[in-house]
Amino acid sequence: MDKKVGVGLIGSQFISSIHVDALSRVSDSEVLAVMSPSEGHAKSFAEKFHIPNHFTDLDKMLAMPDLDMVVIGAPNYLHCEITLKIAKAGKHIVVEKPLCTNLKEADLMIDACKQANVKLMYAEELCFAPKYVRMKGLLDQGALGKPVLFKQSEKHDGPHADHFWDVERSGGGVTMDMGCHAIQFFRWLHPGKAIKSVYAHMMTSVHNDKTKGDDNSIVILEFEDGVVAVMEESWTKLGGMDDKAEIHGSEGVAYADVLQGNSIQTYSNKGIDYAVEKAGNTIGWSYTMYEESWNYGFPQEFEHFVDCVKNNKQPLITGEDGKAVLEVIFAAYESAGLGKKVMLPFKSDVDKPYKLWKK
Ligand SMILES: NC(=O)c1ccc[n+]([C@@H]2O[C@H](COP(=O)([O-])OP(=O)(O)OC[C@H]3O[C@@H](n4cnc5c(N)ncnc54)[C@H](O)[C@@H]3O)[C@@H](O)[C@H]2O)c1
Repeated sequence: MDKKVGVGLIGSQFISSIHVDALSRVSDSEVLAVMSPSEGHAKSFAEKFHIPNHFTDLDKMLAMPDLDMVVIGAPNYLHCEITLKIAKAGKHIVVEKPLCTNLKEADLMIDACKQANVKLMYAEELCFAPKYVRMKGLLDQGALGKPVLFKQSEKHDGPHADHFWDVERSGGGVTMDMGCHAIQFFRWLHPGKAIKSVYAHMMTSVHNDKTKGDDNSIVILEFEDGVVAVMEESWTKLGGMDDKAEIHGSEGVAYADVLQGNSIQTYSNKGIDYAVEKAGNTIGWSYTMYEESWNYGFPQEFEHFVDCVKNNKQPLITGEDGKAVLEVIFAAYESAGLGKKVMLPFKSDVDKPYKLWKK
């Protein structure tokens, strides 16, 4: 492709603001349009980020001939139907995590994109986070020896929008929302090795008034070669976002903290304007992030996806990866429901994973 990759955004709130910022740092791309169902939101987003076109009708945006790639930043339950429409319009797709809400939808999305000959790129930014990329490099060069145990955790005090709390629209609680990051992170660290079993413990410990989903979970995955991965997810951790990982090997160990490890340790009697995602009260001690989006790998992720579209390359993470993550999520909810280990491959016709837990 000789021209810049023309991009359309779907959604105008939290993650779409990160997408537009990330894309502004990718010189081979230009954001040409944004679509969001509320006219006011689409318009103000377009004005704020100098996007030349805004729509409330997806079909109208997809009719734009200059669009090459569309980025889905809409709630989980819409990922499948929106993907099918974009594929039909012949545009490449970046879909936010989790891929969708069930395995049947995952197959529909993968098949539709194959048939339309468009790329289905699964947005898992942790595979581009500079600190995690460096950490994986330590493992790959043998500095840590043979891997034994991986750990990854994401924790904050709960999502910012209603659709995350509503399991009918999200599909599940924190395991679905944040656990999907850990699962793809482990698969990326240990490529070519299948996950053999899943054991999960889930709780709704604090937010019973808001959700039927899990707000805390611990999940243990076992790879076919015996490597174990432990993920801890929380929607009840106050004081700002946590994102951490550990690799334990036969010859070494590595600890990485994406946020607190890079931040400015700050004490303020008055509080500060913004410290870190979901920091809440910033009076007293807090950790002030800088270049938060870069530290998470969002611009790097979009640099890669734009390169894949412009130069017809194979994406690092695809719809198939998103489906594999979803399979582990389904197995985790089944395990939490049964109170025992669940073996993979795991198939389920259930339309939302949380239903396997709260049968
Ligand atoms: N990668 C990450 O770390 C990360 C972080 C946050 C959210 N996400 C994912 O991004 C997606 C959106 O989350 P968010 O936090 O931006 O939510 P949000 O509520 O902040 O924004 C959702 C947007 O979707 C739009 N929308 C609603 N219905 C729509 C429709 N029918 N068609 C098109 N757009 C519609 C809304 O108008 C809104 O602009 C979710 O799937 C979430 O899991 C990923």
